[in-house]
Amino acid sequence: MTVITPATGTTLDEIAAGIYRISTPVPPNPGLKAGFSFNQFLIAAEEPLLFHTGPRALFAPTLEAVRRVIAPERLRYVGFSHVEGDECGSLREWLAVAPEAVPLCSRVAAMVYAADACERTPRALAHGERVDLGGHAVVWFDAPHVPHGWDCGYLGESTTRTLLCGDLFTQAGAENAALTEGDLIGPSEAMRTRMDYFAHSPDTRAHLERLAAFEPRVLGCMHGSSFAGDGRAALLGLADALGA
Ligand SMILES: [Fe+2]
Ligand SMILES: [Fe+2]
Repeated sequence: MTVITPATGTTLDEIAAGIYRISTPVPPNPGLKAGFSFNQFLIAAEEPLLFHTGPRALFAPTLEAVRRVIAPERLRYVGFSHVEGDECGSLREWLAVAPEAVPLCSRVAAMVYAADACERTPRALAHGERVDLGGHAVVWFDAPHVPHGWDCGYLGESTTRTLLCGDLFTQAGAENAALTEGDLIGPSEAMRTRMDYFAHSPDTRAHLERLAAFEPRVLGCMHGSSFAGDGRAALLGLADALGA
């Protein structure tokens, strides 16, 4: 775990070949007694992609972490799962740094937010649509309301079978291993039962089964540790835990 900016404790780790986790801890506070973490993921392809911008307050340390891997000006895509501050709050700041970058998101997110939020036309992806990044390729999964947001979706990276799974498997804690092979359901259920952030959609199991069929070997979680192992079993286990 390489600490990039001591002031924020932001760390940088390669969790799969060419895929980097940039993580900033949030110390324990009255709202989250165990603390929390915000993670962004950089795919260092020929056409680099950042998934989640992080909130505006974390733009500077996240930019510094990206700079350790690629020139941030080279970013081609700034992707996000759904419209919330930590997912896309600093979208405009990233686009200002990277002149060739465009937002990459679901068609719904493009319609309700991204087309209005910035001057550049977003790359709006349909379910199953593939984007070749050069050396890496990503496929979009629509997942409306799982865990929340009409516009919600995820990116699977095909060469490493890494699923960038956003708010799924959110774990509390400021100090998390970058990558764990241990139990994921236990810590994420502990968080969910305290703070129910799921939308209780009737289609939740069907969406989790579509993600499971990608058979991820790595799950890039936006909050907490990423996971290396049987991602299919973890996603189906989450569906069971939700009673979905
Ligand atoms: Fe969210
Ligand atoms: Fe999030």
